[in-house]
Amino acid sequence: MAIKIKGTGSCLPEKVVTNFDLEKIIETTNEWIVERTGIEQRHVSTGESAADLAFEAAKQALAENNIDGADIDLIIAASCTEEMSFPGIACQVQTSIGAKNAVAFDLNAACSGFIFALNTASAYLENGIYKNALIIGSEVLSKVVDWDDRGTCILFGDGAGAMYIEADSTKPATKFIQRSDGSKGQVLKLTNRENKNAFFEGESETKYLWMDGKEVFRFATRQIPDVINELLDASNMTVEDIDMFVLHQANIRIIENISKRLNADLEKFPSNVSKVGNTSSASIPILFDELRKEGKIVEGMKIILSGFGAGLTYGASLIEF
Ligand code: UT7
Repeated sequence: MAIKIKGTGSCLPEKVVTNFDLEKIIETTNEWIVERTGIEQRHVSTGESAADLAFEAAKQALAENNIDGADIDLIIAASCTEEMSFPGIACQVQTSIGAKNAVAFDLNAACSGFIFALNTASAYLENGIYKNALIIGSEVLSKVVDWDDRGTCILFGDGAGAMYIEADSTKPATKFIQRSDGSKGQVLKLTNRENKNAFFEGESETKYLWMDGKEVFRFATRQIPDVINELLDASNMTVEDIDMFVLHQANIRIIENISKRLNADLEKFPSNVSKVGNTSSASIPILFDELRKEGKIVEGMKIILSGFGAGLTYGASLIEF
């Protein structure tokens, strides 16, 4: 039993912030940002929550096949920037789309969140526990980055992407590998709120996202080629058999470096990071939806999705579209 992607959707806040806009608020230049990251602009929330963006993306993913909310079995939303710890984004979307029969929960694996959510849903579907699932990645990173830290605030953007998937009994199980390395977790972290309890004796940490950019770069460019090669070996395939690699959109230099290490044609690595920046767990489904709308993803294509991020977490999934 495999999974079949039946519908996709995405939503970006209307507000666009260019590198030139950033030049006015921090000490940076468009040239520096483009050269180091490939990013030219990002979409930034002016009030939309991660749940609002998730709802819009989910609506599109379901509308494609006129799926009635009441027929959905499972909703998993990946996010590390939800406005409310509870109720989670998945439960909020459940209500908005009338998915009254679904079980809904959130999952946080930072930038790997979407593929971890997809793999989790695949495991449920392939074991016959549920027949279908709505998977969402949604982030409002603009509220957790330190806008005085030019090393990080230039990188991130807001947005959401969604996929509606169904179990497909005509194909063998979807292959995936996912890994975590908590021992390196300190290189990318976000403290979510101060402890105000009267008995707290520790020191409150910064509430903004903090990153050792060089370490994250090194981690992504070493681990992702390895995990993709491992997935290919396990699937008796080579990079030539893969039509497209849809990677987490963190930085164009990371993507170029990974394609080189894999000895794979860069043309197989589509990217929208120049327009949307790094949208964490939303980046893979946003790009996937964009590629489908442009007609670049078609029936029968073999695609590897791969994400990496805080935790540290990383992984890759092989799907046949
Ligand atoms: O989802 C995963 C998320 N994380 C990532 O994708 C991060 C991966 N890492 C990276 O993409 C890169 O490490 C960055 C783009 C974040 C930074 O590039 P870098 O080549 O590692 O730069 P750096 O941090 O070593 O900084 C080099 C210089 C420093 O100046 P000095 O000390 O050499 O004078 C920085 O202060 O560049 C300076 N700098 C900037 N200058 C202009 C840092 N940020 C900026 C900026 N504009 N925005």
